[in-house]
Amino acid sequence: MRIIITEDYKAMSTMAARLVAGQLYLKPKSVLGLATGSTPIGLYHNLIDIHRTIGLDFSEAISFNLDEYIGINRNDVHSYHYFMYENLFNSINIKPENVFIPNGCAADLEAECRHYDNLITSMGGIDLQILGIGNNAHIGFNEPDVKFEATTHKVKLDNETIAANSRFFSSVEAVPKYAISMGIRTIMLAKKIILLANGKNKAEAIYKTIYGGITPKAPASILQLHQDVVIIVDREAASLLPHDSTHNCILSV
Ligand code: F6R
Repeated sequence: MRIIITEDYKAMSTMAARLVAGQLYLKPKSVLGLATGSTPIGLYHNLIDIHRTIGLDFSEAISFNLDEYIGINRNDVHSYHYFMYENLFNSINIKPENVFIPNGCAADLEAECRHYDNLITSMGGIDLQILGIGNNAHIGFNEPDVKFEATTHKVKLDNETIAANSRFFSSVEAVPKYAISMGIRTIMLAKKIILLANGKNKAEAIYKTIYGGITPKAPASILQLHQDVVIIVDREAASLLPHDSTHNCILSV
């Protein structure tokens, strides 16, 4: 694992965008794994900037999102489909036919999950996966007590996740209870992974991810077994890391 501690959210987002842009520069046909939520918004806005200023080209890129709520239509403002178009896809030149997001309204959810994994495999696998992390150390919607061998599947959201995500809905009750999520195995098959975290409320999850034992209780801890993971965090999310790691890794960009 490589850990990069940046001054703040802005620096974290800039750093992540440079790594994604570098990936696309070297391999325009990259398969990207993308996340939703508050954390990657700065990264996406930076990518839009790089696209506009130096013409970062997404015309051959392929993207797979980590997850989608079950029962929410893709045109609903709460869907992750809507989120991705609003925050990234509408402002870059990715082709809609190269964008893949699980269909949370599929009649046969099991078949949808199998289809999603098969699509990823048929595109040659994910080159670069972007991850956020839940306060409970979930990645995708793989909640504590996850099965590490799971591929894309239907998940029940933890109460903690429902409470955290209620900020995007009118009430806690309005938050869907189920989602489709890439499984841990799907995520671990990505060739490179960048995990982003900012803010004090992510500090414990980041500590467990890097220094805790590898346990289904902290799903992100499995990343310790991946060969190419970069964790980019701001100072607050790094605040529980041993002093040495903080001391050695502060970068300002
Ligand atoms: C989103 C996802 C989740 C989020 C996590 C953090 O696609 O898979 O794992 O990354 O819940 O969410 P934020 O960034 O809103 O704190």
